[in-house]
Amino acid sequence: MLSKCSTSMKIVTLVLVMITVLLNFVVYDYINAVIIANQNTTGILSQSFPSSVKRYLANSVGTNDSLLRTTATEVSTTSTPSTRKSVQENDPIFVINNHRFIYKIVPKVNCSDSKLVVCVEISRANNKTRQTIRQTWGSYANVSSNNATLIFFLGSEHPSTNGSQSVQHFINKEAELYGDILQEDYVDDYKNLSLKSVSILKWVSLKCPESQFLLKVDDDMYINVPLLVQTLDDIIKSKGKYHPFIVGYSVQGSGPIRDPNSKWYAPLSAYKGNLYPRYASGVSYAMTTSAAKLLYNASLQVPVFSLEDVYVTGILADKTKVEVIHNALINIGNHEVSGCNFRNKISGHHYSASDMERIHKELYNTTIKCN
Ligand SMILES: *[C@@H]1O[C@H](CO)[C@@H](O)[C@H](O)[C@H]1NC(C)=O
Ligand SMILES: *[C@@H]1O[C@H](CO)[C@@H](O)[C@H](O)[C@H]1NC(C)=O
Ligand SMILES: *[C@@H]1O[C@H](CO)[C@@H](O)[C@H](O)[C@H]1NC(C)=O
Ligand SMILES: *[C@@H]1O[C@H](CO)[C@@H](O)[C@H](O)[C@H]1NC(C)=O
Ligand SMILES: *[C@@H]1O[C@H](CO)[C@@H](O)[C@H](O)[C@H]1NC(C)=O
Ligand SMILES: *[C@@H]1O[C@H](CO)[C@@H](O)[C@H](O)[C@H]1NC(C)=O
Ligand SMILES: *[C@@H]1O[C@H](CO)[C@@H](O)[C@H](O)[C@H]1NC(C)=O
Ligand SMILES: *[C@@H]1O[C@H](CO)[C@@H](O)[C@H](O)[C@H]1NC(C)=O
Ligand SMILES: *[C@@H]1O[C@H](CO)[C@@H](O)[C@H](O)[C@H]1NC(C)=O
Ligand SMILES: *[C@@H]1O[C@H](CO)[C@@H](O)[C@H](O)[C@H]1NC(C)=O
Repeated sequence: MLSKCSTSMKIVTLVLVMITVLLNFVVYDYINAVIIANQNTTGILSQSFPSSVKRYLANSVGTNDSLLRTTATEVSTTSTPSTRKSVQENDPIFVINNHRFIYKIVPKVNCSDSKLVVCVEISRANNKTRQTIRQTWGSYANVSSNNATLIFFLGSEHPSTNGSQSVQHFINKEAELYGDILQEDYVDDYKNLSLKSVSILKWVSLKCPESQFLLKVDDDMYINVPLLVQTLDDIIKSKGKYHPFIVGYSVQGSGPIRDPNSKWYAPLSAYKGNLYPRYASGVSYAMTTSAAKLLYNASLQVPVFSLEDVYVTGILADKTKVEVIHNALINIGNHEVSGCNFRNKISGHHYSASDMERIHKELYNTTIKCN
């Protein structure tokens, strides 16, 4: 009796698992086929989907749909044989293809047709800097006529570590209060920054489809947002409305560091070439939403590489032929903490929360004369 029961239960479970797996493949293949069929860079993932697919995509970024759950090592059914081969449990790189992590928190702010979506990559515990960014350079998004949205991108604590409850409790309260936090359930770790960047590409592509630009920025940067917007408008004026591009501090001729102790270590198994494609430094780069859609589409097919700037603005941009524009106003170095320094700069790096406060106060104080 007992064994009979467990046997039939096993069969039922097996059938259920098979149905889930099959459904998973069918839905994913269909979405991919639609993406691949649509070559219009301005319309991808938004207008041109049949409503059933739009519903699925909307669900995939709004809920905890069990179909969307995946492990980092899962390979999509549409990946090429060479992609399949490169997947190994212990490889420092892994294929994500479908960035199907669970959304623990989704933002309440509506970026659907913002002119600029400001996307800050920041660690979970850094609520102090989030507050400073909201009150300083990020306050640009708090002025409705600026037509901009500010979103902080977070990962999650490793499940095996303790103490997460209290930090998570504060994050939940903060998200409730400001509605500007997005949190997925991948482990928040420096080595996982590419997942964070793909979470930006995915959110902006699917949830801000009519937006014009996004800025990806680290949490220790000061950004002169009005000057950035003016610069983006100027590029559009010269290149045209439908030209997808990335703009940043371009790095050319750099290659993988093979020393395992380096922060930027890239084993041969992760990157075979001697040189990276030209890319934009990851501390701050902006792009058109049309570029984000192309890069997100490409990320579904390209194994993740741990250096997010090389991956997104180098490898994926190279594959999709998205132009990387160098702009000398986008600085990646540390400069004197003063407002005057930022009157003709878009960005600077390595600033504490109090540095940001001082720069901001001085930059917008019109009585201060700069020479
Ligand atoms: C999406 O990616 C696929 C595979 O890399 C490519 O063939 C297709 O042209 C891309 N579609 C768009 C709209 O970019
Ligand atoms: C691409 O899509 C946009 C938005 O749907 C549309 O306005 C534009 O005419 C399309 N371009 C082409 C070349 O089909
Ligand atoms: C997703 O599921 C997690 C864990 O089950 C839960 O804590 C969270 O609130 C859910 N998020 C949404 C957006 O429903
Ligand atoms: C976001 O704004 C757009 C246009 O401004 C609107 O169509 C859409 O319904 C809004 N979405 C939500 C979830 O409020
Ligand atoms: C905001 O910017 C978007 C993209 O440039 C534009 O389509 C929209 O009309 C703007 N909205 C407002 C209220 O200015
Ligand atoms: C946004 O602006 C409102 C007033 O318009 C203000 O009350 C609020 O504190 C501002 N938020 C931040 C984070 O500065
Ligand atoms: C987490 O806490 C549990 C119970 O409080 C304890 O058994 C476990 O060893 C802790 N794990 C770590 C990694 O500290
Ligand atoms: C920030 O989070 C810490 C816990 O990580 C908490 O002790 C502190 O009160 C929080 N600050 C604010 C302003 O919420
Ligand atoms: C990156 O995130 C994945 C998914 O949560 C996790 O399995 C992996 O351990 C993380 N990597 C690091 C280096 O933390
Ligand atoms: C602006 O700068 C002037 C001159 O340094 C200073 O006296 C004034 O207090 C500043 N105003 C504000 C609002 O910080």
